[in-house]
Formats: sequence, C-alpha cells, structure tokens
Amino acid sequence: MIVRAATEADLPAIFEIYDEQVLHGTSTFDTVPKNEAQRLEWFHANPGGRYPIVVAEEGSGIAGWARLYQWSPRPAYDRTAENAVYVRIDARGRGVGRQLLAELLRLAPEHDVLTIIARIVDGNPASLALHEAAGFTRIGLMRRAGEKHGLVLDVWMLQRVLDGDD
Ligand SMILES: CC(C)(COP(=O)(O)OP(=O)(O)OC[C@H]1O[C@@H](n2cnc3c(N)ncnc32)[C@H](O)[C@@H]1OP(=O)(O)O)[C@@H](O)C(=O)NCCC(=O)NCCS
Repeated sequence: MIVRAATEADLPAIFEIYDEQVLHGTSTFDTVPKNEAQRLEWFHANPGGRYPIVVAEEGSGIAGWARLYQWSPRPAYDRTAENAVYVRIDARGRGVGRQLLAELLRLAPEHDVLTIIARIVDGNPASLALHEAAGFTRIGLMRRAGEKHGLVLDVWMLQRVLDGDD
C-alpha cells in the first residue's frame, strides 16, 4: 500500500467510500451525495494549498482517503484545520486509517497547520480509538448536536496540537 496525494481521477473511488457513510452511516453529517460539480469543488477547496487530500492506493484500487479542511475563513484561525479519514468497509482494521492519519499529521506542519480538530460522533469507537492512538485528546462533547437516521447524536471534539504546547 502506498499513501500518496489524491488527484481528480481518484474522486469516484473517494466518493464511493464516503457515500457509503453519507447514505448509511453517522460518521459524517452529510446526508446527500455530492454531484460531479460539487465533488470538484470539494477537491479544490484548498485555500493557499494548505489542505492536502491523500489516498491509500492498494493494487489497482483506493482503500481509503484522508484530508484536512479549513477550520474557519477567519485568518487568526489559520493554524487550525479539521481532519477526515475514511476507509473502505472491506479494508478496515488493518492499519489503513492509521497510516492515512499519520501522513496528514506529517504534512500538516509543512503547511503551517499546527492544531488539528476532529469531530467524531459518539458511538464511533473505531474513529475515537484511531485518533486517540494518534495523540488526539478529547476536549469536549457537543450534546444533541446532530440528527440522522432518526437518531439524535452527540459529537466529541478532539484536538491534536503539533507545535509542542499540548
Ligand atoms: C475509523 C476508521 C477510519 C478507522 O480506519 P481503520 O483502517 O479501520 O483503522 P486501523 O486499522 O488503522 O486502526 C487504527 C487504530 O484504530 C483503532 N480501531 C480501529 N478499528 C477499531 C474498532 N472497530 N474498534 C475499536 N478500535 C478500533 C485501534 O486502536 C487501531 O489501533 P491498533 O491497530 O494499534 O489496535 C474506519 O473504521 C472508517 O472508515 N470508519 C467509517 C468512517 C469514519 O468513521 N471515519 C471517521 C470520521 S470522524
């Protein structure tokens, strides 16, 4: 498996993985799959080139992807980004997510991203364990923050500080 920068050609595979959770899961609060134009907009939502998207390539396919998102357009937040990690159902539990997240943490400081926020729905033990194993700490619980598939959902906020103040 190699972890590399994503290209536009990876978008169908990226969204095949993501849309499974959009439609059937609660790990994303998106509820409607993106169309072609929205996928491209998502791909290019990268102000200053600071928010990488990486994929885990395995054989001829993509086992997972991860990215940073701008946390806020207010410039004083520039050191903070949010992350996402998604692994194909049949590729989970064998280290793909760990390697994708490690690559994001390696790349972030190169783009002056020094604080990373993860929002993780309560009841997603795999994601909580993945992030805590990578040094994220829980900083709060947003109670009854979302509603999907008839469930009212709490959301954990986690943080990893990369410039030594943690
Ligand atoms: C969360 C997710 C990305 C984890 O990816 P993965 O490739 O399965 O995880 P890994 O195999 O790299 O495991 C990394 C660590 O996470 C933890 N972990 C993974 N799956 C777990 C599970 N089902 N239960 C508890 N802990 C788990 C373990 O601590 C593991 O470390 P270890 O191998 O040293 O024990 C994956 O389950 C997924 O895509 N889930 C749906 C989408 C999602 O929830 N994304 C995150 C949104 S916030």
